Amino acid sequence: MRTQVGIIGAGPAGLLLSRLLTLQGIDSVVLENRSRSYVEARIRAGILEQHSVDTLTAAGLGDRLHREGLEHRGIYLQYTGTRHKLDFPELCGRTVWVYGQTEVVKDLIAAQLDGGPPLLFEVSDVTPEDVDTDSPRIRFTDADGVPQVLGCDVIAGTDGFHGVSRPVVTERTEGRLWERTYPYAWLGVLADVAPSTDELIYAWHPDGFALHSMRSPSVSRLYLQVDPAEKIEEWSDDRIWTALATRFSLDGWELETGPITEKSVLPMRSFVSAPMRHRRLFLAGDAAHIVPPTGAKGLNLALADVTLLATALVRLLRERQTDLVDDYSDRALARVWRCTHFSWWMTSMLHRSGDDFDAELQLSQLRRVCSSEAAARELAENYTGLPIDD
Ligand code: FAD
Ligand code: PHB
Repeated sequence: MRTQVGIIGAGPAGLLLSRLLTLQGIDSVVLENRSRSYVEARIRAGILEQHSVDTLTAAGLGDRLHREGLEHRGIYLQYTGTRHKLDFPELCGRTVWVYGQTEVVKDLIAAQLDGGPPLLFEVSDVTPEDVDTDSPRIRFTDADGVPQVLGCDVIAGTDGFHGVSRPVVTERTEGRLWERTYPYAWLGVLADVAPSTDELIYAWHPDGFALHSMRSPSVSRLYLQVDPAEKIEEWSDDRIWTALATRFSLDGWELETGPITEKSVLPMRSFVSAPMRHRRLFLAGDAAHIVPPTGAKGLNLALADVTLLATALVRLLRERQTDLVDDYSDRALARVWRCTHFSWWMTSMLHRSGDDFDAELQLSQLRRVCSSEAAARELAENYTGLPIDD
């Protein structure tokens, strides 16, 4: 087998990269170690920045997004009995969209399987090789158990945090890693109940942070700050709803409850690996960086990386110019660090550490964001997403 770009991992990063390359006449093959149903059912992010929506729309993937996605014009910040709305269009002229990562992935897979380049599920033993040369290869075993070799011009490692690509880059580049593990986790639930709010609510509370998000007019997505060692079995549905009602409590407002269909505890960490390239192997998305979910940045950052990478690879493979691939890692990392800072800042402002001095600093910061247009604009610009080539 031979292709121009061998893509490891069919998450949002790998699938969008393949789509963007196809639109520019560049061949690719996507290799995924899970099944299609597994990949399509994985519940993860829910918010798309303006540039993500624009990129997906320009790539011909906007139909269902515009039909079923919910455009959101702001968020609520809640603390000590007040709920304050930040109006994004007023503050920065942009909006965000609620459209689950599962839906983005389903749309990308449907487009790929409808006459797009090969997308092979349930492959195993995926190994990038010869990445120091101009003709790297990916060895893998296909779903029928047959060993295969995919010859490529370039390999894209979009295989997430636990993938095989990052260790190859780190090993060969004496690269650097930065990591911060937060002393909090999120207990996330999906519930069959109409959202009790028009916009997402980010709530500071003495018991810990809570977030009210949603997936559709009839499905709510809610999160509670918990200890990372917390066991999900110890959280009955009743206990979850009681904790949520306490943390969102506000005079004259009520949280509607309903059947919980999914619940899990998510660890929170920041992680950055640099550089994001070694010769003919390029990293994008969670393969190179992780952010805590408080800023809603993980999925958007993955889509932004491959938007840059696609342009760079088209220039390399069509025009034989190396300037954009040479700049890729630095340009991508500039955005990664901006999003890493914003995600850390939102996390630090909203999660209870147990220290009362910290709590007063957080409340002071929240009052500042809710009373100063400049402070609110800073949040709004970052939340709705800075321009891709910023
Ligand atoms: P992934 O989505 O991880 O895709 C990588 C793909 O590569 C996967 O399909 C994987 O199966 C495949 N793969 C891995 N190893 C191999 C291999 N060896 N060979 C072949 N294929 C391989 N972000 C937010 O903004 N908000 C959220 O609420 C949020 N919640 C999250 C909840 C969880 C549990 C997790 C894990 C992440 C969450 N994120 C969230 C982050 C967001 O989902 C990720 O940033 C996003 O999925 C990154 O996309 P990606 O394509 O880079 O990686
Ligand atoms: C979600 O809907 O899953 C979601 C929304 C906003 C966040 C994190 C997660 O900041």
